[in-house]
Amino acid sequence: MLATLSTMNIVIWVGVALGILSQGSYSSYTPADNYLLVCGSSQNVTFNDQTYVPDSLQSSVSLKSQGNSFVATSNSTPPSPIYQSARIFTSTTSYKFDIETEGRHWIRLYFYPVPGHNLTSASITVVTENFVLLHNFSFETFNGTYLFKEYAINVTLDNLVLNFIPSNNSIAFVNAIEVVSAPDNLIPDQAVAVSPPGPFTWLSGLALETVYRLNMGGPLVTAQNDTLGRTWENDVKYLHVNSSATNVSVNPLNIKYGPAVSPEIAPNSVYSTAETMGDANVVSVNFNITWVLPVDPNFTYFVRVHFCDIVSKSMNSLVFNLYINTDSAFGGLDLSNLAGNLDVPVYKDFVSNNSAGSDTLSVSVGPDTSSNSLNAIMNGLEIMKISNEARSFVGLSAVETLLEVPPKKNKIGIIIGSVGGAVAALAFIGLCYCCLAARRSRSTPQGNTWLPLPLYGNSLTMTKMSTLSQKSGTASCISLASSNLGRRQQLTEKSDVYSFGVVLLELEETSSALTEPDDNSTNHIPDIPLTSLEPFDNSVSMIEGVNSGTDDDAEDAATSAVFSQLVNPRGR
Ligand SMILES: *[C@@H]1O[C@H](CO)[C@@H](O)[C@H](O)[C@H]1NC(C)=O
Ligand SMILES: *[C@@H]1O[C@H](CO)[C@@H](O)[C@H](O)[C@H]1NC(C)=O
Ligand SMILES: *[C@@H]1O[C@H](CO)[C@@H](O)[C@H](O)[C@H]1NC(C)=O
Ligand SMILES: *[C@@H]1O[C@H](CO)[C@@H](O)[C@H](O)[C@H]1NC(C)=O
Ligand SMILES: *[C@@H]1O[C@H](CO)[C@@H](O)[C@H](O)[C@H]1NC(C)=O
Ligand SMILES: *[C@@H]1O[C@H](CO)[C@@H](O)[C@H](O)[C@H]1NC(C)=O
Ligand SMILES: *[C@@H]1O[C@H](CO)[C@@H](O)[C@H](O)[C@H]1NC(C)=O
Ligand SMILES: *[C@@H]1O[C@H](CO)[C@@H](O)[C@H](O)[C@H]1NC(C)=O
Ligand SMILES: *[C@@H]1O[C@H](CO)[C@@H](O)[C@H](O)[C@H]1NC(C)=O
Ligand SMILES: *[C@@H]1O[C@H](CO)[C@@H](O)[C@H](O)[C@H]1NC(C)=O
Ligand SMILES: *[C@@H]1O[C@H](CO)[C@@H](O)[C@H](O)[C@H]1NC(C)=O
Ligand SMILES: *[C@@H]1O[C@H](CO)[C@@H](O)[C@H](O)[C@H]1NC(C)=O
Repeated sequence: MLATLSTMNIVIWVGVALGILSQGSYSSYTPADNYLLVCGSSQNVTFNDQTYVPDSLQSSVSLKSQGNSFVATSNSTPPSPIYQSARIFTSTTSYKFDIETEGRHWIRLYFYPVPGHNLTSASITVVTENFVLLHNFSFETFNGTYLFKEYAINVTLDNLVLNFIPSNNSIAFVNAIEVVSAPDNLIPDQAVAVSPPGPFTWLSGLALETVYRLNMGGPLVTAQNDTLGRTWENDVKYLHVNSSATNVSVNPLNIKYGPAVSPEIAPNSVYSTAETMGDANVVSVNFNITWVLPVDPNFTYFVRVHFCDIVSKSMNSLVFNLYINTDSAFGGLDLSNLAGNLDVPVYKDFVSNNSAGSDTLSVSVGPDTSSNSLNAIMNGLEIMKISNEARSFVGLSAVETLLEVPPKKNKIGIIIGSVGGAVAALAFIGLCYCCLAARRSRSTPQGNTWLPLPLYGNSLTMTKMSTLSQKSGTASCISLASSNLGRRQQLTEKSDVYSFGVVLLELEETSSALTEPDDNSTNHIPDIPLTSLEPFDNSVSMIEGVNSGTDDDAEDAATSAVFSQLVNPRGR
C-alpha cells in the first residue's frame, strides 16, 4: 500500500518535472507566413507591438485590379492606429499573398469607415478562391464604429488570393489585413458533435470564423500577450446569471503545460483564471453556470472549452458536467484526472449544430451529483463559425457567383477635364509618362495583370479634396487588366471619380493599356511582385509633388490615437 503510494508519487513528480521541462523547452512558434499590412498607408504602423507594413511596400504581395483602387486617410483620431488609412476599391480587386507553408492561416481583416470619404454606405464583399468571408457588409446597417474579422483557413496552394468586391455602383474598402500561419495542430480534423452525438470529421477542409474567444474570470488578453496574436475577452457579459459565477486566479507561472497542450493552444494568462460556482458550498449546490452567446442560427459552430484545475488541493476533487445548449457534451468530467495533474491545462473540441434554430448558443458547467464534487470550472471558451455548404460565412451565395464579372458598358470614353487647364497640363504629362512607361514595360513580361498598388499620393489628394468630395462626374477609361484578359471583352469601364488624383491615375492606366499591344490571348499570366514593376514610380513622385505635406496629418493621427476600446473579436 505504502509502496503503491510512493510509486504514484514518483510518477506524479516525474510528470511534473517533465511538464516543467517541456514548458521550458518550448521554442515559441514562428509563423512561416506573417503578412501584416496596413492598407493605403505611406508608412509603417505599430499596433499591438507589431509592425504593419504599407500594402504598397510589401514585396511578396501583389494587387490585381480590374478597375482602380485609391487611398483614404483621415486627420481625425481613429479607434486605433491600424484604422487611420484605407484602400478603396471601385471594382473587384484582389490581393495575392505568396504562401511559404501550406496549412491553416489566420486571415484578419480590419474595417473602419475613415471619416470624410463616404465609406459608411460602401458595400463590402470579401472572398478567397474558395470561401466567402464577408458578403454585402455595410456600416450603414452595422451597430458599431469598426469591424474586426478573424478567419482560420487551410491554404493548400502556394498563394492566397483575397478578392474585394464592391456591390453595384458602390465601393469596397479595407484598412488592414493579416495573413499569418497557424500551427498545424491548432485545429484538428475531427471533433465531437453533440447533437446528434458522434464524430464530426473533415474540419481541415472547412473554414472557421472566430465569433467568441473568452478568458473566463480574467482580463482582456490582447494580441501581444498571445503567441498566435489572438484576442481573448472577459466573459462576464455573457453570463446568464451573474451571481452564478465567482472568478478565481493564480499566478500564470503556476500553469504547467504538458505534452498535450502548448501555449499555442492558449496562453497561461487564460488558464490561470477561471469562473467557478458562485454559490458553491452554500445552500443549493446543484446549479449550472451558463454562458449565453448570440449566434447566427443558420450555422454550425466549433466549440473549444479550456480547463485547468487551479482551485483544487488534491486530485480528483473537481468532477462536473459540461453542456452545450441543453445537450450533454461531457458528463462526469474529472478534470485533474483528464489533465493528469492539478494546474495542467486541457481542452476539448465539440461541434454544435443549432438544429433548434435558436439564435443563441449556450455553454454550461455544473457539478456532477454522482461525485462528491460541489464545484465546476471553466477557464476559456472559443466559438468559431464553420463555413456552410456554400463555403460561405454569410448566406448561400458561393464564390463563383460573387466573382462573376457583371457585363459592363462598351464605350470608349474621353476624359473631359472639368478641373480646368491645370488638369489638361497634368494629364498631358501623364500621357507622355505613360508612353514612356508602356515602352519600358515591353522589357517586362507582357500582359501582367498584377499591378503595383496605386500610389498613396492619391490619398493626399483625397484628403484635400474632401470638402468637394462629391462624385464630380464620371470618367471612362480602359483598365489594363480588362484589356489583357482575352475572355473579358469589355474595353471600358465606368467608374465614379472621387477626386482629381484619381482621374490622373485612371488616365495613366488608360494610356498604358491603349499603347500596349493586345496580343496576349492566353490566360496564363506571369505574376510579378509589386516592387518589380517600376514604371509607376515616376507617377508616385509626380502626384506626391502636387500634394505634399499631408503625411504629417497621418503621423499626428498615429501618435494621438487612443486605443481605448478593445478589438471586438465578435466582429458583429
Ligand atoms: C517598416 O517595417 C519593415 C518590417 O518590419 C522594415 O523592414 C522597414 O525598415 C520599416 N520601414 C520604416 C520606414 O520604418
Ligand atoms: C445589401 O445590403 C443592403 C443593405 O445594406 C440591401 O439593401 C441590399 O439588398 C443587399 N444586397 C444584396 C445583394 O444582398
Ligand atoms: C447597438 O449596440 C448597443 C450597445 O451594444 C445596444 O444597446 C443597441 O441596442 C444596439 N442597437 C441595435 C439597433 O442593435
Ligand atoms: C447589379 O447590376 C446588375 C445589372 O446592372 C443587376 O442585374 C443586378 O441585380 C445588380 N445587383 C445588385 C445587388 O444590385
Ligand atoms: C489542409 O488540407 C490538406 C488537404 O486537404 C490536408 O492534407 C491538411 O492536413 C490540412 N491541414 C490542416 C492544418 O488542416
Ligand atoms: C472578479 O470578481 C470581482 C468581484 O466580483 C470583480 O470585481 C472583478 O472585476 C472580477 N474580475 C474579472 C477579471 O472578472
Ligand atoms: C500583457 O503583456 C504586458 C507586457 O507585454 C504585461 O504588462 C501585461 O500584464 C500582460 N497582460 C496579460 C493579461 O498577461
Ligand atoms: C451582470 O454583470 C454585467 C457586467 O458586470 C452587468 O453589465 C450586468 O448588468 C449584470 N447583470 C445583472 C442581471 O446583474
Ligand atoms: C437562415 O436561413 C433562412 C433560409 O435559408 C433565411 O430565411 C434566414 O433569413 C436565415 N437567417 C439568418 C439569420 O441569416
Ligand atoms: C444544467 O443544464 C443542463 C442542460 O441545460 C440541464 O439538463 C441540467 O438539468 C442543469 N442542471 C441543473 C442543476 O440545473
Ligand atoms: C445537424 O443537423 C442536421 C439535421 O438537424 C443533421 O442532418 C446533421 O447531421 C447535423 N450535423 C451535425 C454536425 O450535428
Ligand atoms: C455618399 O454615398 C451615397 C450613396 O452612395 C450618396 O447618395 C451620397 O451622395 C454620397 N455623398 C457624398 C458626399 O459623396
